[in-house]
Amino acid sequence: MSSPEGWGEPLYDRVLAGIAPGSSVLDVGCGPGVFAAFAQARGMTVHGVDLSRAALAQAERTAPGATFAIGDAHQLSGEYDVVALVQVLAHVTNPVKVLQEAGRVGGAVRATVWGREEESDIRLFGEALEPFLPPKDQRRTPAGPPPLTDPDRFRKVAGLAGLEVTALDEVRSPFAYPDEDSLVGPLLQSDLGRYAANRAGPAAVRTAVLDTFEPRRNGEGYRLENLFRVMEARAAG
Ligand SMILES: C[S@@+](CC[C@H](N)C(=O)[O-])C[C@H]1O[C@@H](n2cnc3c(N)ncnc32)[C@H](O)[C@@H]1O
Repeated sequence: MSSPEGWGEPLYDRVLAGIAPGSSVLDVGCGPGVFAAFAQARGMTVHGVDLSRAALAQAERTAPGATFAIGDAHQLSGEYDVVALVQVLAHVTNPVKVLQEAGRVGGAVRATVWGREEESDIRLFGEALEPFLPPKDQRRTPAGPPPLTDPDRFRKVAGLAGLEVTALDEVRSPFAYPDEDSLVGPLLQSDLGRYAANRAGPAAVRTAVLDTFEPRRNGEGYRLENLFRVMEARAAG
């Protein structure tokens, strides 16, 4: 699965709602810098941190006016008007600690997560590959608390981090794929896609994916409706 270009704009727009031009933004887990470039275009001063050198190199190309550095979300430094955690919390070891750090160094915290599985069409990629994967009882399933895609859990984790949640809003962000290849190609390059193609052959996987996505066909291409949640919070007290 890959995210098509431009998918993040409705989400980024909500993340930055009410933030004045000139504000300083710490973009934690900045990845390839697409959000950083968006924030810069809104007149904000952006510093991005990420654990991945490769992502930072890309971010420097995407948002040349921002600054970037290797950094761990669990240990932030500096002082910012806003700390943005855009699609990062699902990837860190300790989301409570990361949100705590965000509240410590940021006047405002803005954090985004995917909606629940059933709320987003992105789950269809998993459904399409399901017949090619080992039986569910033979797969490693991560133990632990419910994921942050559950809004009650998301609020609870923010509370544990000492944050006061001032908003938790839903944002719809469609993924548009212009043609079949743009839908199937990146999936076949993913770990699960390669596994499925090794077992059943790429042609069978392609057919299964296109069949699964047929209801989402939009002309030559496909349109997926996806839901995210954006939290606005600040250190309590
Ligand atoms: C799904 S990507 C999101 C990237 C970017 N925020 C965006 O929305 O395009 C998650 C990013 O978090 C980074 N990451 C994961 N754990 C991290 C940590 N502990 N500290 C900093 N970055 C981390 C990954 O390297 C990756 O770039």
